[in-house]
Amino acid sequence: PPDLCPAYSGVFQRMYKAECYFINGTEKVRFVKRYIYNREQLFHLDSNVGLFVGGTPYGEKQAHYRNSKLELLEYKWSQVDMFCRHNYEVYSPLFAER
Ligand SMILES: *[C@@H]1O[C@H](CO)[C@@H](O)[C@H](O)[C@H]1NC(C)=O
Repeated sequence: PPDLCPAYSGVFQRMYKAECYFINGTEKVRFVKRYIYNREQLFHLDSNVGLFVGGTPYGEKQAHYRNSKLELLEYKWSQVDMFCRHNYEVYSPLFAER
């Protein structure tokens, strides 16, 4: 915001975006999670790729570190079912009513 308290020396924003793409209902689902810092995407995970991919030098290190953790990757791979398909079942009846 333009009207910052003078005591603030900076504003730091960390943002995560989770995206689900549905192709033919839940037949083909793609999950993308973006890790953003101060409007810059540091790294992201795309279920079609299956790994974290860096977008900046720092993001590359983060991606490399995360790619070395199999249980984290397995958790991310499960998100097409646990997060995307689950939410599709919960929300699509509501959307169909409109
Ligand atoms: C869409 O999915 C249904 C099953 O849910 C399948 O029977 C149909 O062939 C699919 N259509 C296309 C265009 O892939």
